[in-house]
Amino acid sequence: MVGVRVQTSDRLLMTISQDLCRQAAIIGCGRIGSILEHDRLRRKPCTHAGLFAKHSLTELIAGCDIDASRRAAFSRDWGIPASMVFEDYREMLSKVKADIVSVATWTESHAEIVIEAARSGAKIILCEKPMAISIDEADRMVEVCDSLGVTLAIHHERRWELSYRSVKSFIEKGGLGEIRTIIGHVLTGTPKKDWHSIPQLSGGGPALHDGTHLFDVMRYLCGKVVEVKGETERHDSELKVEDTARAVMRFENGAVAYIECGGRRKYFDFELDIQGTLGRIIIGNAVMRYFGVGPSQRYENFTEFTERQFPMLDEPQYFPFIVDELMSAHRTGRRSISSGEDGREALRAVLAIYGRV
Ligand SMILES: NC(=O)c1ccc[n+]([C@@H]2O[C@H](COP(=O)([O-])OP(=O)(O)OC[C@H]3O[C@@H](n4cnc5c(N)ncnc54)[C@H](O)[C@@H]3O)[C@@H](O)[C@H]2O)c1
Repeated sequence: MVGVRVQTSDRLLMTISQDLCRQAAIIGCGRIGSILEHDRLRRKPCTHAGLFAKHSLTELIAGCDIDASRRAAFSRDWGIPASMVFEDYREMLSKVKADIVSVATWTESHAEIVIEAARSGAKIILCEKPMAISIDEADRMVEVCDSLGVTLAIHHERRWELSYRSVKSFIEKGGLGEIRTIIGHVLTGTPKKDWHSIPQLSGGGPALHDGTHLFDVMRYLCGKVVEVKGETERHDSELKVEDTARAVMRFENGAVAYIECGGRRKYFDFELDIQGTLGRIIIGNAVMRYFGVGPSQRYENFTEFTERQFPMLDEPQYFPFIVDELMSAHRTGRRSISSGEDGREALRAVLAIYGRV
C-alpha cells in the first residue's frame, strides 16, 4: 500500500504552506486507523494511515497500538520501521515529534490521548468519532487544544465529503426554501459482542457509535439544536448497550428531525430525507436525489415535486480534502469545519437520549 500519492487541489495548494505540518503519526492501528485500506470496494484512501501516507503534503512516520499483531500489520502495510511503531502512546509522543496525530482508538481513550498529544506538541489532531464518552471529557479536549493553539478535528467525515458540502451550500443559498423536516436513520444489526458492546469502552450503542454521524450531519446542515428527546431499547438482556434508539431533535430555525439508530436490521444504511418549503433532498450512503417543485403533471392548480439533477459543487473530494482543510485551518487559526465543539454538540445530542446530560 506504500507509494501512491494523492495530489491536493491546485487551488488549495496555493494557499497552503508546503513546509507546514508534514509528519503524521497514528494512535490506534485498527480498522479505521489502518486496516480498512485492504477493503477492495472502498474508495481510497479510507483510513487515517492511508490519508497521510498518500497525500502529497504529508508523510506517515509512526504508529502505536496496544495489540502486537496490529503493530506488525501497520509496519508491514505502510513500510514503517518497527522502531517507529510503539505499544505505549506516551512513549511514542515523547520520542516522535509528529505535527499531525490521529487518534483512532476505542472511544474511552480519546480524551486522554488527545490531551496528551496536544501537550506533546502536535499541531493538528484528528480524533475519531464519537469524540468522547462524556461532555466533561469533550470540554477538556477543546480547552486544552485551544489553550495550546492545536487544531482539533473530529472525524465526522461527511463534513468533508463533496456531496454533503454541496447540500449545505445549496441549503444556505435557499435552494430548499426553509427546512421543515428531516427524517434520518443509521440502521445496523445488533451491536457486535466486542468492545462495541462494552459501555466502558464504547460509551453506548448505535446511537453513539453510528448515530453520532447522523446527529452531527444534521447540525451541519440545519444549525443549532435546541431540544433532543429520545428513547432506547435493548432486546437482548445480556447486551449492555442499546440496540435501537429513536429521537426527535428540534433546531433553532424551527426544523424538526425524526431519527432512528440501530434498529436490529440485517443491513447497514445511512440516509437523510431533508424536506424544505421549496424542495427535498434524499442523501445517504446509497442515494443522492433532489426534488424541486413545479406545476403538477397530474392535477390542475397543484404544485408537486419533480426530480432534478442535483448541482454538485466543483470542489475536491473527501479524504484528500481533509488534509487541505486541516492545514488551512491551522495556518489561519480558524476552527476546522469538523471542530471539537462540533463533535461535542453531536455527543451532547446523543447523551440527551441516554439521559446523561
Ligand atoms: N469515522 C468512521 O467512519 C469510523 C469508522 C470506524 C470506526 N470509527 C471509530 O474509530 C475508533 C476505532 O474504531 P475501529 O473500528 O477502528 O476499532 P478497532 O478495534 O479496529 O481499532 C482500534 C485500535 O485501537 C487500539 N487501541 C485501543 N486502546 C488503545 C490505546 N490506549 N493505545 C493504543 N492503541 C489502542 C486497539 O488495539 C485497536 O487495534 C472508534 O472510536 C470508532 O467509533 C470511525
